[in-house]
Amino acid sequence: MRYLSGIQPSGVLHIGNYFGAMRQHVARQEGHECFYFIADYHSLTTVNDAELLREYVKGVTLDYLAVGLDPEKVAFFRQSDVPEVTELTWILSTVTGMGLLERCHSYKDKIARGIAASHGLFAYPVLMASDILIYDSDRVPVGKDQIQHIEVTRDIAQSFNHLYGETFVLPESEVEDTTAVVPGNDGQKMSKSYGNTIEMFAGKKKLKKSIMGIVTDSLGVEEPKDPDTNTVYQLYCLMASTDEQAELADRFRKGGMGYGDAKKTLLEKTMEYFGPFRDRRDELEKDPDFVEDVLVEGAKKARAKARETLNRARLAVGLD
Ligand code: ADP
Ligand code: TRP
Repeated sequence: MRYLSGIQPSGVLHIGNYFGAMRQHVARQEGHECFYFIADYHSLTTVNDAELLREYVKGVTLDYLAVGLDPEKVAFFRQSDVPEVTELTWILSTVTGMGLLERCHSYKDKIARGIAASHGLFAYPVLMASDILIYDSDRVPVGKDQIQHIEVTRDIAQSFNHLYGETFVLPESEVEDTTAVVPGNDGQKMSKSYGNTIEMFAGKKKLKKSIMGIVTDSLGVEEPKDPDTNTVYQLYCLMASTDEQAELADRFRKGGMGYGDAKKTLLEKTMEYFGPFRDRRDELEKDPDFVEDVLVEGAKKARAKARETLNRARLAVGLD
């Protein structure tokens, strides 16, 4: 069983990325073959500043290693270190119906948020299909918002296989129900591009600002509150033990606790939960050569596999 996933270096990673995707990625590294990459080609659809892109790539690399990704166990690499993926993208794009891409929510959402409607943004799912198919991936662990892209990948692979004969493995997405969508501090999906994130590695001051800024209803301190409908509680549950969850739920229901106090509890929990990761990240940051080596070695492994699949596809279409 081969697992593959990617994350865009289009901003600073947040706890939605961690609970929605990264945690699953790290968990899969035991006992499975895993390929994980930093989707820097994809990021060009939204990041148009070279220095910023470099900084985000560095940040995401450190974040992944800090949360426990083990480069001895997985191939961890930069997408653009495997340029074969762009050649396969072109081949796949010739069997991808316009209607398929026109139906993609992510494109429409991004346009609605003011991102420029470039061809790259529109064709984004074809590059993603290439990322997945080029490694003969069986499973793709992602957050809920990416499921449609995996379905598009299957459609593209099926069209290709139908036209040219069995060439690609049909992948399946894997989403963990419990953490399907992590809310941001405005109650909407937490996203780098919505300005509503709680960053994984922000300092206490910044973290405090995002957590204190969580939007709540206007019930007074004394009034009983429903834990199940509030963002503070939802976020707390991601990090707290079952007993701690029950205790906070109880305090909400009883009344006598304001949202301010609950937010302080959430702040402490967030600091505690990410504390050990933070220490590891600080250590890694002191060793940039090691970090770069990890990516170079990861790309070697990935590239060998990518070449093999690309050759198969070239042969199938008659480009040999
Ligand atoms: P963002 O929306 O912040 O730009 P990405 O689209 O780069 O995040 O997502 C990277 C990974 O993190 C994907 O697998 C995605 O499904 C997951 N993810 C992002 N935001 C959330 C969230 N709020 N809840 C759950 N998973 C998320
Ligand atoms: N589109 C994904 C996201 O925004 C990132 C990504 C690119 C990806 N290629 C992929 C995820 C291949 C899984 C598999 O999160």
